[in-house]
Amino acid sequence: MTDLDAFLASFDGEPGYLDWAAFGPLSPAVRAEAVADTELLGSGRRSSIDLVDAHVRDARELIATLIGTDAAQVVLQPSTSYGLMQAIYGLAGGLLLGRGEFPSLTVAATRAAEALGSVRLQWLEPAGGFVTPEAVREGLTDDTRAVAVSLVDFRTGYRADLGAIRDVIGDRLLIVDAIQGFGTVDADYTAADVVCANGYKWLRAGRGTGFAWYGERALERIAPVLSGYRGTDEGLPLDAVPPPAASAQAFTVSGADTLAAARLSTALAETAAVGVGAIEQELAARTGDVMYFADRYDVPVLTPREPERRGGIVALAPAPQDAAPLAASLANHGLTVTVRSGLVRVSPHVGTGADTLRLFGDALAAFSAARVW
Ligand SMILES: Cc1ncc(COP(=O)(O)O)c(C=O)c1O
Repeated sequence: MTDLDAFLASFDGEPGYLDWAAFGPLSPAVRAEAVADTELLGSGRRSSIDLVDAHVRDARELIATLIGTDAAQVVLQPSTSYGLMQAIYGLAGGLLLGRGEFPSLTVAATRAAEALGSVRLQWLEPAGGFVTPEAVREGLTDDTRAVAVSLVDFRTGYRADLGAIRDVIGDRLLIVDAIQGFGTVDADYTAADVVCANGYKWLRAGRGTGFAWYGERALERIAPVLSGYRGTDEGLPLDAVPPPAASAQAFTVSGADTLAAARLSTALAETAAVGVGAIEQELAARTGDVMYFADRYDVPVLTPREPERRGGIVALAPAPQDAAPLAASLANHGLTVTVRSGLVRVSPHVGTGADTLRLFGDALAAFSAARVW
């Protein structure tokens, strides 16, 4: 069995699940690790506690490997949103971002601007909601100091071109919310300055498994304004308050959740063993299958067709009168998707089997047969 075959076989959930962009059912290895480490933490032995603690370092090293950077520049976070807040509150000057971004970005940016006054928001409202390099170029002003974007848009499934955005923005900061692509999209993260994500969707690691990477430029320019007592180079700073660490460690508040780190490092190791490139290729075939059925039954697809401009999300945009019947047919066939604002978000993973895709085809066929033109 190859690593990829073993990885595919590890998707042991029930058929019908097409909602990986919302939540990723935990992998068997992650579940087993969580049980084992929970037992270790119950033992009352220092060596057992240290064993679980070691997962923090393991996770940071694996993230660094997947990004192509150094573990010193990686810090664990409770979630993507916490990671993004650390970066955004430390900015000064214009911050360019799409109005349609997931609220982790838009809310943090708005609150930071209101609270600190040092961040000025520059909203982008690109046609179709795609934050393309051209849209970014048009939105830039002399005041723009940073651009924040999702690697894969949670709504449309559009995958940003980080390298091309870098070319457009010069040496301004690029902050990336990568939760909808980390581990499944072979992105050039080093084109960015900050990358934040969480492992509870595509990595199958459960909640609490957030992390952030800070490149050199980010460490120079972003002030660690939300830095807590674990954000220094001194283990436990008592009686005197030292400056924040010079590394990414500055962008943290408290101690890491070591059980979450155990789940995350296990999930990252599974991903690293297969390789993100192989996962991306396999996932493109699954999303291609979803698009095939959508085309066959005349359901409009919002997500770009080019594999390099999408990740695991396929957004269907039925006519307004079709949205409810389509959602009902999917539910009646036992399929789990996200229906929001008239869009049906279908998100398979590489382990989504032929049985699930068959159900999806049947659901669309039933919807189509009952449709009134
Ligand atoms: C693009 C995007 N960013 C952030 C989040 C929230 O991430 P977290 O729960 O890790 O803060 C989501 C959740 O769906 C998302 O889709």
